[in-house]
Amino acid sequence: MDNPDGYAEVGSSDCGVTMAMYLRVKDGRIEDIRYKTYGCCAAIASSSIATDMVKGKTIDEAQALTKADIVKELGGLPEQKVHCSLMVEDAIKAAIADYKSKDGIY
Ligand code: FES
Repeated sequence: MDNPDGYAEVGSSDCGVTMAMYLRVKDGRIEDIRYKTYGCCAAIASSSIATDMVKGKTIDEAQALTKADIVKELGGLPEQKVHCSLMVEDAIKAAIADYKSKDGIY
């Protein structure tokens, strides 16, 4: 996404995952959200479903998304893969924080 309103990149050296999250915000809602995930299949699936879940939501609604919501929407993940969905939660929250810092909300 060119010139996103919010952007964040998170990762973990434990498993080598890198995740970038891009937000477009209009009238307080997430108009568009894109991701680039280099990681395991659970991280990619979590990125995909989480971006579908928050698209069109208000910033507050998107910020309330948790890894438990993501795992539930996926229909579950093996216990050793739950941290992959936490990475997505972190990326979305960091991108929202970036948006808020640019928009003067903080
Ligand atoms: Fe680390 Fe999936 S194993 S993100």
